[in-house]
Amino acid sequence: MLKKPLIIGNWKMNKTPEESDDFLQKVLDYEAEAKPNCEIAVSVPFICLSTCIDKSKSSPIKIGAQNCYFEENGAFTGEISASMLSRIGADFVILGHSERRRYFSETSEIINLKVRSAIKNGLDVVICVGESLSEKEKLIADEIILMQTKIALFGVDINSLSKVSIAYEPLWAIGSGDIEKIEKINEMCEKIHRVVDQIYNKGASATMKVLYGGSVNIKNLSKILSKANTDGVLIGSASLVSDEFLKIIEFASKHT
Ligand code: PGA
Repeated sequence: MLKKPLIIGNWKMNKTPEESDDFLQKVLDYEAEAKPNCEIAVSVPFICLSTCIDKSKSSPIKIGAQNCYFEENGAFTGEISASMLSRIGADFVILGHSERRRYFSETSEIINLKVRSAIKNGLDVVICVGESLSEKEKLIADEIILMQTKIALFGVDINSLSKVSIAYEPLWAIGSGDIEKIEKINEMCEKIHRVVDQIYNKGASATMKVLYGGSVNIKNLSKILSKANTDGVLIGSASLVSDEFLKIIEFASKHT
């Protein structure tokens, strides 16, 4: 791992603004004291964004959303646009998470529109790609990952790749307690880099980050950070408790 590892907590549909304030305070205190050698980001529910953005303003901690809509504004009841996120000071947005694809019927084409809108509005994007268990069993995981990556990046300018992270998250690993085998994570991360180089030009993928996600916790982190060829991790449940999240940051900081 050559770049500073990027550690992203994805709170999903958890925490109130009050709880997020308390959590962020602990992360800020730790960051100010320990100055960890990793990038820290937290992806929070929409209702916690203002609290977290205000709180982390003068710190290097990045705050992001977990979704956005691709239109700028208009009659789209219940949606939040990328320009709205940008205007309130969000740094990034997670797009194409498997839970969005699965429970909210988001297609790769919709995710692509969201990616383009987010980048146009100055946000960094974390694009999630991953195969289901049945796709893995049918030996089409590679095709799924490459297809999702290609569609998500369609029309994205080469100069915007530095704003992109792609998180390889096998669906069956999310919330299961099991991570994918290190060799497979490495293989997938390499394939993602290769396809991005193919789309743009050789070496283009060096400016973006490729992450792993799916049941990452303090116990398996050492294996992932020391052996897997990733630029960081996307963490769900283990990012919900501040002590656990801070242990992960501490560990990541020492293993770079
Ligand atoms: P998990 O979630 O760490 O709880 O498996 C990861 C994710 O869904 O991004």
